[in-house]
Amino acid sequence: MSSSPIIELIREKLDIVDVIREYVPALKKAGRNHKANCPFHNEKSPSFTVSPDKQIFYCFGCNEGGDIFTFVMKIEGLTFPEAARKLALKAGVEYGEDRSHAMTEADKERLEIKKLLTAAAAFYHAALFSPAGEKARLYLGERRLSKATVERFELGWAPAGGAALMDEMKAKGWSRDIALKAGLITEREGGLVADTFRGRIMFPIRNQTGDTVAFGGRVLDPEAQPKYLNSPETILFSKRRTLYGLHEALPQIRKSAKLLLLEGYMDVIGAHQHGVDWAVAPLGTALTNEHAGLIGRYAKDTVVMFDGDRAGINASVRAAEIFMEAGLYVRLADLGCPLDPDEFLNDYGREEFEKKIAEASDPLDFRMNLFFKGRKTPPSSQEKAQAIAVLLETVAKQPDEILKSEWVKSLASRFSVEEASVLKQLRKVSVQAPREVKRGDPEAVKAIPSIERGFIQLLLRDPALIEKAAGLEPEDFSNPMARDFFAAMRDMAPAERAKAATSLAARFPDQAPLIMGLAVADLGGDSSAAQNAAGAMRMLKRFSLERRLKELKAAEPMDEQQFKEYSRIMSELKSSVKEL
Ligand code: UTP
Ligand code: MN
Repeated sequence: MSSSPIIELIREKLDIVDVIREYVPALKKAGRNHKANCPFHNEKSPSFTVSPDKQIFYCFGCNEGGDIFTFVMKIEGLTFPEAARKLALKAGVEYGEDRSHAMTEADKERLEIKKLLTAAAAFYHAALFSPAGEKARLYLGERRLSKATVERFELGWAPAGGAALMDEMKAKGWSRDIALKAGLITEREGGLVADTFRGRIMFPIRNQTGDTVAFGGRVLDPEAQPKYLNSPETILFSKRRTLYGLHEALPQIRKSAKLLLLEGYMDVIGAHQHGVDWAVAPLGTALTNEHAGLIGRYAKDTVVMFDGDRAGINASVRAAEIFMEAGLYVRLADLGCPLDPDEFLNDYGREEFEKKIAEASDPLDFRMNLFFKGRKTPPSSQEKAQAIAVLLETVAKQPDEILKSEWVKSLASRFSVEEASVLKQLRKVSVQAPREVKRGDPEAVKAIPSIERGFIQLLLRDPALIEKAAGLEPEDFSNPMARDFFAAMRDMAPAERAKAATSLAARFPDQAPLIMGLAVADLGGDSSAAQNAAGAMRMLKRFSLERRLKELKAAEPMDEQQFKEYSRIMSELKSSVKEL
């Protein structure tokens, strides 16, 4: 099916690197290939490889692979003809509408299910505006949703009778088999079937492309259970991979690379109504790796704002850890009151809401704030030890070594304990935590102290930062390899610097995998690169001075010159501590 002349023409006109880069902007050239973190599974070092020579992609981590058509099908959840139509448009190739003969049976079924779900959404929506939908309309009014919002999210009403949808769909010629596969009707005892959703406010759930793939339904009667019912898993719908509101939020998320993660349907809808149109929510499940992978495709900076109750707080801490494990930058926001985001927006408005988002703190600060909140007396030593042990689990999950060492510092200072003992304790936690397998020479990578490695990594990603490293000397690096890398990058002409990773790899061919590995590794939060670098430079300088101090001490008794140097370093250290 994939070898018709039109398909070949599309293939000829498009380059796989351009096609994939639209979805995976982080795609970087690495030798003959391009690499990035795989969009199909969660990973921290890129196994996803695109070969322009062969016009194929392949992921060494999850073994997904294929050509442009397979890629678009997989990433957008499309059938072959749908993907082909999309690519034809991009290639400027005319693609006839009637290509259904080119579809496999499975493709045809997916398409049928999609069409039925779209028809069902229209049915529910119409029912909302029918006399039977009056109570539901009133309820949505009480929830302060505007007509435009109801239209935008195509909210609906599932009539209370047992088979309103089924009857309507049957009359329109849909088969019972497809309705079952779409999750719209459910088998009951004795082989009877009935509508899955009855007497509920309906929320069509769309995938990121905008197709309706499932529904959520909320009861009107506060006594009825469950409060929200979701469609069962189908070939089009997996809760673990779907985020409510993503399709609506994508234009804004693409613009700003920011995403706001809320807890529920009503929060997302309320946020969009108030213009906070970069909000999405999982569907009644805890955030999954798959969600994080999906988010990482579009956003660099995520703010999680869950309900202010215990459950919400716990869930947001867990979500933050999943983001960190995926190498993504995340902050946690707290409304500071027991209101849900949608209630808060209705009561206080967008400006106050956005203030809370701006005040979001990183996961460690968030947890420390919780610990100290409402405490009148300082914690006992034992309380401190217990709290630190728990908080270190969050620290251990931070993959960015620079941030991690910043966290150790702030943990130590907030609890007024020695940084060294926090570090020691952290090592214990980190040993227990499962570690991701690194590519390249793992020994060589590990041999570089994390702060030096992190800094080199920052430079590889943003070589212009080296202009700000005037105070730093190669000698300030304790690791000979890091020292050589730094010296080489410092001496590069600006033009060469633009491709620092490849030219560094060319200069140190033995270390090329390590360098490429560092260069392509995802550091998470882009926005803080310059800030990270400044912090790292201060720390590097300080560690270097401390090392020199040790050497001088070891050489005691010092001569006059050594003593002068000793005193100078002491005072430099003192002022650098003040800076930190
Ligand atoms: P909440 O109970 O916080 O509901 O559940 P909510 O979003 O604030 O809804 P309103 O404001 O009462 O209308 C948060 C999310 O958890 C899922 C839903 O996705 C919901 O939006 N959930 C909740 C379920 O899947 N099933 C339930 O029974 C309850
Ligand atoms: Mn709510």
